[in-house]
Amino acid sequence: MPEKVHVSLGARSYDVLVGTGLLADTGKHISPLLKRPKVAIVSDAHVASLHLTTLTKSLDAQGISHSNLSLPQGESTKSWAHLQEVVHWLLSEQIERNDIVIAFGGGVIGDLVGFAASILRRGVRFVQIPTSLLAQVDSSVGGKTGINAPHGKNLIGAFHQPSLVLADISVLGTLTERDFRAGYGEVAKYGLLGDADFFEWLEQNGPALAGGDEALRLQAVKRSVAMKAGIVARDETEQGERALLNLGHTFCHALEAATGYSDRLLHGEGVAIGCALAFETSARLGLCSQEAPSRVRAHLKDMKMKTDLSDISGELPDADGLISLMMQDKKVASGTLNFIMARGIGEAFVTSDVNADVLKSVLTDALSTHL
Ligand code: GLY
Repeated sequence: MPEKVHVSLGARSYDVLVGTGLLADTGKHISPLLKRPKVAIVSDAHVASLHLTTLTKSLDAQGISHSNLSLPQGESTKSWAHLQEVVHWLLSEQIERNDIVIAFGGGVIGDLVGFAASILRRGVRFVQIPTSLLAQVDSSVGGKTGINAPHGKNLIGAFHQPSLVLADISVLGTLTERDFRAGYGEVAKYGLLGDADFFEWLEQNGPALAGGDEALRLQAVKRSVAMKAGIVARDETEQGERALLNLGHTFCHALEAATGYSDRLLHGEGVAIGCALAFETSARLGLCSQEAPSRVRAHLKDMKMKTDLSDISGELPDADGLISLMMQDKKVASGTLNFIMARGIGEAFVTSDVNADVLKSVLTDALSTHL
């Protein structure tokens, strides 16, 4: 039996099921939600080539008819053009208000298809079947959907909660090592932002988990999803606490922009480096001891993850250049940038009170290792 995490949002509540081999039981889990035995699947072409047959067989076994649209893998799929393609395809498949759309892939597919579902016929239900670690622990849960604009990532979108999330741990076995470790950046983030015991557990179990231990992977995904579910239930539309989920992200977004959203830096890698920088800044501001950033960096290195700016290949802007990229962040309000800082491991908080000279010195020192 899969583990269940409930996301408690009144009429918009739903379950996240986490388990091994779940994909083969998709039909059974989706059946109770259907008003008629028909679904539309939108997948990423790479995921479809590996796993679509398992999914469609499970639907066939329950007598559920299905059609599939496969889209190119990669961030550039989160565009107006592909949004239009998905919406027009769903209309041509005669997907009705009461039907279910399945988003089958990583964060790109989840965000795009969730947004398409939010606007199709003024909102149809959708099910997330996340296939990357990053999507399982973060983007598939909580209802943030959207596409990218030329002005920045995720700037066009809607909150639209899924009706069910199926996180099959076994599917993680087909990820590249780099993609798995990048997703782990988001897992570590949960411990760092609000659960010191979980971070300690990760310090002990992270390497075995990355090595393929499914039982440990299941525990890590479940604990991450449970933390996210709690935060989303308390602050669905990010009026306060939900911003903690952006720990490391202001630094990350600047680094992603500086590297042209290319494979020089994957999002989860940027989150990991960003968390290390957020803890370093917190220590220099006297908010936490120097031991905290040292522990963060030691764990990331233990996990063979990108930890420092020197782990990013090619040129980077100087500290002022990075700071001006940080000012493009969505968390800028009335010209003031809100940061997620920490009083210790597991004790993050939101503040706009970050001394500009300290920030610049953290970045200058971090860049000095980047030869
Ligand atoms: N990925 C951050 C959030 O869902 O709020």
